[in-house]
Amino acid sequence: MADAEDIGSTMEMIESLWILFLAIVFCSTADASHCSIDGLPLVRNITELPQDNYGRPGLSHITVAGAGLHGMKEVEVWLQTFAPGSGTPIHRHSCEEVFVVLKGSATLYIASNSNTKYPGKPSEFRIFSNSTFHIPVNDAHQVWNTDEHEDLQVLVIISRPPVKVFIYEDWLMPHTAAKLKFPYYWDEKCYESRVPAAKDEL
Ligand SMILES: *[C@@H]1O[C@H](CO)[C@@H](O)[C@H](O)[C@H]1NC(C)=O
Ligand SMILES: *[C@@H]1O[C@H](CO)[C@@H](O)[C@H](O)[C@H]1NC(C)=O
Repeated sequence: MADAEDIGSTMEMIESLWILFLAIVFCSTADASHCSIDGLPLVRNITELPQDNYGRPGLSHITVAGAGLHGMKEVEVWLQTFAPGSGTPIHRHSCEEVFVVLKGSATLYIASNSNTKYPGKPSEFRIFSNSTFHIPVNDAHQVWNTDEHEDLQVLVIISRPPVKVFIYEDWLMPHTAAKLKFPYYWDEKCYESRVPAAKDEL
């Protein structure tokens, strides 16, 4: 039999459970809130976008438009700066990649041997301010700022985000031994909370 006192304490219990529930919901959304595309301004000031080196000395990376951060489905755009003597690992990915060099000069190493066992000795190209180049799908490559003084700044566009990167320790490492890094450094935080692809047609 429920008397008034019992009902009162049941109400109290429901109330405290409800508060606990709200607290859990609030904490989990607060944690992923920087990954939400809701309420993002359409025009964004690049200077105010988050930038980080993701533990890689000499790197500054900004995801200008990304899958995790901005809900991009087919392309992703990065703005990256490499200090003298820094660069990317030797790596490959099965997406297209276009570079626009905004500042500085550097060396592109690229081995177009995806049908042999390992990349082998790469071809070298000097890249310079206002130059552009693209990396064919699955070609092992590395961009290295070989200039002694000036930063290298590039705008990078990739297809099919988020990027799946296979990293080589050297040019003689077999393609099959290259190590998958996924999600890639800057995709780690927002990968889990990525919004599932919405319908394309109206
Ligand atoms: C962009 O952000 C920078 C740094 O906060 C600021 O100095 C600059 O005025 C901003 N540009 C515009 C057009 O708001
Ligand atoms: C890059 O090339 C374009 C086309 O010639 C030119 O308009 C632009 O000013 C150049 N930019 C720089 C930074 O040299």
